[in-house]
Amino acid sequence: MKKKIGVKILGTGSYFPKKVLTNLDLEKIVDTSDEWISTRTGIKERRVSEKNEPTSELAFKASTEALKFANILPGQIDMILVATVTPDMLFPSTACFLQTKLNISSVPAFDLSASCSGFIYGISIAKAFIESGLYKKILLVGVDELTKITDWTDRNTCVLFGDGAGAMVLSASYEDDDILSVFLGADGSYSNLLFLPAGGTSKPTTLDTINEKLHTIKMHGKEVFRVAVPKMVLAAEKALKFSEKRLEDIKLFIPHQANMRIIEAVAKKMGIPMDKVFVNIHKTGNVSSATTITALDEAIKTGRLKNGDIVELVAFGGGFTWGAAVIKI
Ligand code: UT7
Repeated sequence: MKKKIGVKILGTGSYFPKKVLTNLDLEKIVDTSDEWISTRTGIKERRVSEKNEPTSELAFKASTEALKFANILPGQIDMILVATVTPDMLFPSTACFLQTKLNISSVPAFDLSASCSGFIYGISIAKAFIESGLYKKILLVGVDELTKITDWTDRNTCVLFGDGAGAMVLSASYEDDDILSVFLGADGSYSNLLFLPAGGTSKPTTLDTINEKLHTIKMHGKEVFRVAVPKMVLAAEKALKFSEKRLEDIKLFIPHQANMRIIEAVAKKMGIPMDKVFVNIHKTGNVSSATTITALDEAIKTGRLKNGDIVELVAFGGGFTWGAAVIKI
């Protein structure tokens, strides 16, 4: 009988731009306060990319670190997958720009758009490609530069977002199977609660769309919050069930870092003590497709996770989309 192909996680990496924007800096830009932002969101500061530092550049730096950690040369990668909603351009894909930066030729490269759940969607795609036998070594990146599509006069949104990138190298294996389960969901009927109105085919760019600031994120925060909590709980519980693990088996929960109150509400509903929940929102803000992978990378590199530990990632974002994955480090 043919042996089943498993997926091994070979390494992770991450990168945040150097420039720090604190809540005190934001107080000078919009009518807000460190106190409001800290208590309502848990965010204290976020990183902001430079004008000449596109998404593919952050992706490149995170990928280089992940490849080094995995002890893999770029030329050994046979597929590049980038989860992002802030691509360098509408096309070509950011994955193609990344491919050139990594000096890899010919291998397939494409982007996927699932907002803040993008990295978890990516894990599912990488798993399916590897298990099918089509590709052996996949570079998966979660990256976003939301600060480049932020309306800096809108205090409802501009205090929330940051830029960052995380990467993972996954490989076919006959010995290991590190992706224990993935659960994904989406509901497009909520698309009007968190979106970027213009620049696509439904509202091509015109002087009017620019004047109306329709190329920046629009969000109905309260409504998003209300749906985010139950969907994250649903996704986390489903993925846990499919993994055939119990809550006690999970060393660390890594939730999407959008709002500290969402994280605490999800943990409370699931009965997870906060000391088993990873939080880095205070220094990153919401980095969309990059949150779960950058948090995972930090947990590994700071020694909070060690080989063999089981981790659950869970995310929620525009679409709406949601997803969770139980993985072994
Ligand atoms: O990545 C996944 C998608 N995103 C999310 O998951 C975000 C989900 N939503 C949230 O995190 C929260 O809803 C927010 C942090 C966005 C807002 O928190 P909230 O507790 O829901 O506040 P609110 O929108 O109900 O606003 C409360 C008050 C309002 O004033 P009034 O109308 O009560 O006088 C706002 O105008 O707070 C005001 N406000 C602010 N005040 C100071 C809104 N933004 C700010 C601000 N600084 N930055």
